[in-house]
Amino acid sequence: MAATSEATLFVGREHGAGERRVAATPDSVRRQVGRGINVLIEHGAGQAAGYDDQAYAEAGAKLVDAAAIGEAPLVARVAPPSLEDVRALSPDTVLLTLLAPHRNLEVVTALSERGISTLAMDLVPRISRAQSIDALSSQANISGYRAVIEAAYGLDKYFPLFMTAAGTIRPARVVVLGAGVAGLQAVATAKRLGAVVHVSDIREAAREEVASLGGTFIEVPDVEDATGEGGYAKEVGENFLERQRAVLTEFLSQAHAAITTAQIPGRPAPELITQQMVEAMQPGSVVIDLAAADGGNCALTQAGTVVEHNGVRIIPGNDFPSKMAGEASALYARNIASFCELLVDDEDHLHLDLEDEIVAGSLVTHGGTVTAPRIAEMLGGKDA
Ligand code: NAI
Repeated sequence: MAATSEATLFVGREHGAGERRVAATPDSVRRQVGRGINVLIEHGAGQAAGYDDQAYAEAGAKLVDAAAIGEAPLVARVAPPSLEDVRALSPDTVLLTLLAPHRNLEVVTALSERGISTLAMDLVPRISRAQSIDALSSQANISGYRAVIEAAYGLDKYFPLFMTAAGTIRPARVVVLGAGVAGLQAVATAKRLGAVVHVSDIREAAREEVASLGGTFIEVPDVEDATGEGGYAKEVGENFLERQRAVLTEFLSQAHAAITTAQIPGRPAPELITQQMVEAMQPGSVVIDLAAADGGNCALTQAGTVVEHNGVRIIPGNDFPSKMAGEASALYARNIASFCELLVDDEDHLHLDLEDEIVAGSLVTHGGTVTAPRIAEMLGGKDA
């Protein structure tokens, strides 16, 4: 068990490009203050998400300047910090943040060298006790919903079947690749709008979940169940991916929208749609790639830019939660509040219980070392 100090949480403005979310809302502040946590909110921190300073003050937060970050033993943020953000933290701070550590190794090293205890919200173990802290799920749900809305908006076609006096309009055909949290939400949303939905995944459990939402599972010959640790997918070989792409080419050539969400934790996203497959799609169709931040499931995806190729638009979806910043922040702030409650004891002191499965599973840096084994390995085994 690490040293204790009074529980004071700082939440600041996010500075990342296009990031509109915030790690606390007036509701989460009220809850945290009720649990004996002092909350410091930087002036204007919630503005882009629709929460004003006065609402935070009324909820019991103290409004402060950015420099107050150095006074709080507990800091929560949304996006991974920059190197400059790391320098602003005082040593021994406990930091709660989405981190994508496999993509931000330089930042992880800086956090470790600065003596920060970093709890990555994206590494919280998927156990029942951690469900209220599961930020990956809360944000992926939003991405899956928004992906369908963006697809519907981007098409010059109805989603539902329409039978009118002037003729019948066939429903849109949507292909969803990856039936995890975001994918299943995309299936449910596309079905609600009346589309015909086909879905591919490599975990056996996904088949039933897809069927229960009214989607049709795409069969790939000689498929092996690729369920890995914690219900996530394992990486599959190039042989399988080639067979999968051959099957998907047919479905994609008839689709109006493809929504791709396939990911393998801590690894680049599998390439499921090649340039050739895009060229076989109908002009006017769209690919919404929710795996864009990890390289994308489509060979042509560029994070942050819409690419048009042969009349097909490939839209990266990495910023969808930020586009719905109010709701995304409300859910994320609840995830943060739940995690904070785990870190504060009955006497309102901050404790980092390294024996706790949730703390141990999400801890990336602590006491000057990189504690997450896979990240330490990526850094050349210098730590852990
Ligand atoms: P994810 O974001 O890591 O991946 C999304 C989906 O892509 C997964 O369903 C994965 O199987 C699929 N995928 C990977 N490679 C693929 C390929 N080549 N082709 C097609 N699909 C591919 O996963 P996410 O959404 O974070 O969750 C995955 C699973 O984790 C859930 O379905 C569930 O079993 C488990 N989970 C458990 C929770 C809990 O117990 N509290 C909460 C949330 C998820």
